[in-house]
Amino acid sequence: MGEIRIRHYDHLRDARSFAALNYRTFRDSIPPDEPVDEEEFKRHHQWLLKHFAPHDARRNTVLVAEIDGKYAGHCWLGQQTDFFTQRVDPWIFDLSVLPQFRRRGVATALHAAVVELLQAGGQSLIGLQVMAHNPAAAKMYEKLGYRPRAISLKKKL
Ligand SMILES: CC(C)(COP(=O)(O)OP(=O)(O)OC[C@H]1O[C@@H](n2cnc3c(N)ncnc32)[C@H](O)[C@@H]1OP(=O)(O)O)[C@@H](O)C(=O)NCCC(=O)NCCS
Repeated sequence: MGEIRIRHYDHLRDARSFAALNYRTFRDSIPPDEPVDEEEFKRHHQWLLKHFAPHDARRNTVLVAEIDGKYAGHCWLGQQTDFFTQRVDPWIFDLSVLPQFRRRGVATALHAAVVELLQAGGQSLIGLQVMAHNPAAAKMYEKLGYRPRAISLKKKL
């Protein structure tokens, strides 16, 4: 398999691949024991894409990884306002790799490129949310140097 190439998102070329992979990751972010109306979720995902506008380079940076010219994964970087301090920090909304390209360092390469961009822009913090039922992602983020800052809890009534 060829080398990993990282480039900026191109809306005309990448919109479909981005939306499909992002849909899968966001859908899988809902814990398996929580009820989901699939049609409602599809509508909500459309709304998320419109509202958070990953293609809008004023608000987001999306990097795409290609292997042998094929879409292999992406990293969607936006911003998040801290609830307590109102500080606005860069925030990874989605770091995803297509199943056939996993465990080859694609996510690590995308993350390194994002960090390089942020450091060049003078940023010193980056955050993200990882779901408790996603140990693969938790392992990856731990390896990339992330440490828990909050633990979000839910209880069945
Ligand atoms: C999580 C994900 C992005 C990892 O992508 P990837 O390109 O396979 O990751 P890398 O090859 O760069 O792996 C880096 C390290 O992360 C850890 N890791 C990645 N996948 C793992 C898995 N399935 N189980 C355990 N550890 C894993 C390993 O430590 C790995 O290093 P190693 O391969 O040398 O052991 C990919 O599995 C994915 O797209 N999952 C679905 C989407 C998702 O959950 N995204 C994160 C939430 S936004």
